[in-house]
Amino acid sequence: MRMDKILFGGDYNPEQWPEDIWDRDMELFNEANADTLTVNVFSWGTLQPDEHTYDFAVLDRILERLAAAGKSVCLATSTAAHPAWMARAYPDVTRVDFEGRRHVFGQRHNSCPNSPAYRRLSVELARRIAERYSATDRPASGVIVAWHVNNEYGGTCYCERCGAAFRVWLRERYGTLDALNEAWNTAFWSHTFHAWEEIVPPSALSEHWGGPNVTAFQGITLDYLRFNSDGMLRNFIDEKAAIREFSPDLPVTTNLMGMYRPLDYFRWAPHLDFVSWDNYPPDMQSHARMALTHDLMRGLKGGQPFWLMEQTPSQTSSRLFNPVKRPGVMRLWSYQAVAHGADAVLFFQMRQSRGASEKDHGAVINHAGQSDTRVFREVAGLGQELAALAGEIVGARTHAKVALVFDWDSWWAVEISDGPSRHVSYQQTLIGYYRALYEQNVAVDVVPVDADLSKYEVVVAPLLHVIKGDIAPRVEAFVEGGGAFVTSFLSGRVDESDNAFGMDAPGPLARILGIRIDETDALAAEDFNAVVFDGAPGANGIVPDESGVRFATNLIFDLVQPGTAEVVGVYESDFYAGMAAVTRNVVGEAEMPGEAWYVGTNLDAGGLDWLLGRVLRERGLLNGYSGVPGVEAVARHRDDVTYLFLLNHGDGDSHVVADMDGVSLLTQAQVTAGESITLAPKDVVILKSVHSQ
Ligand code: GLA
Ligand code: ZN
Repeated sequence: MRMDKILFGGDYNPEQWPEDIWDRDMELFNEANADTLTVNVFSWGTLQPDEHTYDFAVLDRILERLAAAGKSVCLATSTAAHPAWMARAYPDVTRVDFEGRRHVFGQRHNSCPNSPAYRRLSVELARRIAERYSATDRPASGVIVAWHVNNEYGGTCYCERCGAAFRVWLRERYGTLDALNEAWNTAFWSHTFHAWEEIVPPSALSEHWGGPNVTAFQGITLDYLRFNSDGMLRNFIDEKAAIREFSPDLPVTTNLMGMYRPLDYFRWAPHLDFVSWDNYPPDMQSHARMALTHDLMRGLKGGQPFWLMEQTPSQTSSRLFNPVKRPGVMRLWSYQAVAHGADAVLFFQMRQSRGASEKDHGAVINHAGQSDTRVFREVAGLGQELAALAGEIVGARTHAKVALVFDWDSWWAVEISDGPSRHVSYQQTLIGYYRALYEQNVAVDVVPVDADLSKYEVVVAPLLHVIKGDIAPRVEAFVEGGGAFVTSFLSGRVDESDNAFGMDAPGPLARILGIRIDETDALAAEDFNAVVFDGAPGANGIVPDESGVRFATNLIFDLVQPGTAEVVGVYESDFYAGMAAVTRNVVGEAEMPGEAWYVGTNLDAGGLDWLLGRVLRERGLLNGYSGVPGVEAVARHRDDVTYLFLLNHGDGDSHVVADMDGVSLLTQAQVTAGESITLAPKDVVILKSVHSQ
């Protein structure tokens, strides 16, 4: 198979079916142009019938069959669902939940990451699989293109083993109890710890009195979130090391879940050879959210292309009701992933489950094994297109001048904080800011707080709540160097341990923002105020008249006192009517000086469009595709080639004007700059343009 093509295929679980249909599956894979199959994700129960017996006969035959059919394999280690005998023999393999209940055998994704039995046996299984299928005398050895460790790591355990491991983790982090007591502010409510053994996991039985987000001690809860993420990461690292003993060169990944709160994927990313993730959007209208998530996944490894490891070809089965993807939507969303950096488009799953909880989940091949279905035809059509694109796109990168800062510590800290509001959602807030950039079709890199900001012109950092490392001086240097920095309410509020700074809010960001905040009002979601802006027009062509332009706002209302900053927007009502809500601190005398924006309230979508649009417009970052309704325009670049993806998410025809000469790769039509391109609903155009150096 050509590795310079976008890989296409998906999860394949033939062990759940009689072997006499496997040949038919191979024919159907050929018909669908599927070249890459992920196998062995959930087979531990048959691979190892008891602690001392391993049986690879079925997996051997699966891999031999795929090898004979000329397919590539992403080989999983099967450690995401422990076998029943293991839970019985080693009860500590199962988790203790937040309420303190020890679970028994059942479901999946539920092994205690600190169970010695789980750790030993999962690593041993990974080692044996790697040893067996790396052996060059095995027919399967040449077909493996990647290792897939475990599956969708997630959840939390609160058992005693985890408690003990937490204490070890804390000793490494703090060194002394004095340092820990200081960090957690334990003088509050008589919490001073005098022995490490006194520390227990923060669960419903200890610090939490209203669910996982409601804690009496943010410091311990924050550290438990970090510890839990690190514990599962260590499981991954251990399996990877076992694989590396036998397979030194093949890339190792695990499938991530996008914006998944429990795991700090920026801490995971250095250990993954490439990022892969599973895209199951919550609804049909999530284009901006999906785009953000793809950009986040690409950002985890600094722009390296990723794999779309799973998506359903049609419906899922885990929701209250499960809509099928409308005609064209699977193809459109697949190209959206590619446009944002995916080099593989894979499905869950190739053949539909016969029983249990996923028997109604969509699949490329249905229960009856038909290829004359709408879903199969659409998949096969996409497979054919991707095969024809061989040699194109793979490895191409995104060039963005705008960065969005994403930070799991801030996500956690904002949402476990008592006050000022429990209604602020980190994810919804970031989606809101991202969406305003997305509507302008401006490329965005999603970056961690320690990223190099200097290569961007605009850095947007909503809810930068936790100030850690040298982020504050780097933001200052960025703005002093002429960049535009935009941050929001609740930014700059706490240090890494969730303690307030002994200075005016927004803490270490206050100087560069040129403001001070003494009070923050928080109201019910339905209690709206408005921000009245004056001055420059926004991107959406709205030019304020003498009375300004106003947008609704809710949830959080910082009473901003400008120092060196200019006031751009003021509150319309309440006792703070006329006070600053949005400010801009101009730094330097250059024609395009640095600017640090503070948005002290939860502006509605129109307000964010206006504000971010203004920043982009003033910096010349808008383009010919900015604001075209329903059409997403995203580019990838490789050497002197640009691939521009035009995606029509709308239900009607859309028209855009090409901004470069090129060839439309899916139709081979020549396109000239200035020419109008019509996109049918859900249709995709990939314009390839070669630039002379
Ligand atoms: C997840 C899992 C798969 C499958 C799908 C169903 O992504 O990784 O095993 O359960 O969900 O949507
Ligand atoms: Zn545990």
